[in-house]
Amino acid sequence: MLEKIKETADFIKNIIQETPDFAVVLGSGLGKLQNEVEPIHVLEYKDIPNFPQTTVVGHTGKLIYGILEGKKVLMMSGRFHYYEGHSMETVTFPIRVFHLLGITNLILSNACGGVNPAYKIADIVILKDHINMMPEHPLRGKNIDELGPRFVDMSEPYNKKMIAVAEQVASNQNINIHQGIYVALQGPTFETPAEYGMIKAIGGDMVGMSTVPEVIVAKHMGMDVFCMSVITDLGGPDIAFAVSHEEVLNAANKAMPNVITVVKGLIKNYQ
Ligand code: HPA
Repeated sequence: MLEKIKETADFIKNIIQETPDFAVVLGSGLGKLQNEVEPIHVLEYKDIPNFPQTTVVGHTGKLIYGILEGKKVLMMSGRFHYYEGHSMETVTFPIRVFHLLGITNLILSNACGGVNPAYKIADIVILKDHINMMPEHPLRGKNIDELGPRFVDMSEPYNKKMIAVAEQVASNQNINIHQGIYVALQGPTFETPAEYGMIKAIGGDMVGMSTVPEVIVAKHMGMDVFCMSVITDLGGPDIAFAVSHEEVLNAANKAMPNVITVVKGLIKNYQ
């Protein structure tokens, strides 16, 4: 695996010739953030050696290198989910590549279901922690010592300084923002009312089908991670609204201006 990661990183390095300040992963329906970047190079996943291919509507499959708020960013439009049938190795492959490119700051985003009664559809929530309930662990198996340690410290999964900067940006712009705990399940079914109830009971504020494997692998390699979720639907033991992918995309679209403001502000003001 390491050889493949190196080969892909070398390919990208040869094209971009610089070390990006941030890698950004765009979640379902949040692709519009890419329009904010002044592009220097746009690579389609199919043209990048060893890069997986996306299968989900709303995830396009492009790696965009360019300038955002004066910083060098490598933006991934279209991520890989476990529910698509990808292995955990494949789901987290791009994060490994980002590390070999020398990137130390990772910004993730996602669409998720809210179970905290204070949340409304299209609210944005900064992850302060997560609970991993995926059926497989991305670090299971022989450890690659060159990338990180066997046993990984997870005491600060989401970088407190990045959270503070994002909070400040939201506050300056009068954007209502929450901090919450994200529970990762494999999907692809949305949760039953009882399952949403379980998420709440175990201490979760929201639930989704992505992000956590990428965070774990990033922490394995010592990266600083920030993640922001958009609440695209609400669930709970007594709430039984139907959820559809279309609804998820609509809510994500509605939250887009706030997502753009906070991510841009974070990139501009961090470090
Ligand atoms: N559950 C899981 N994943 C999701 C949801 C949800 O309610 N909404 C968007 N992604």
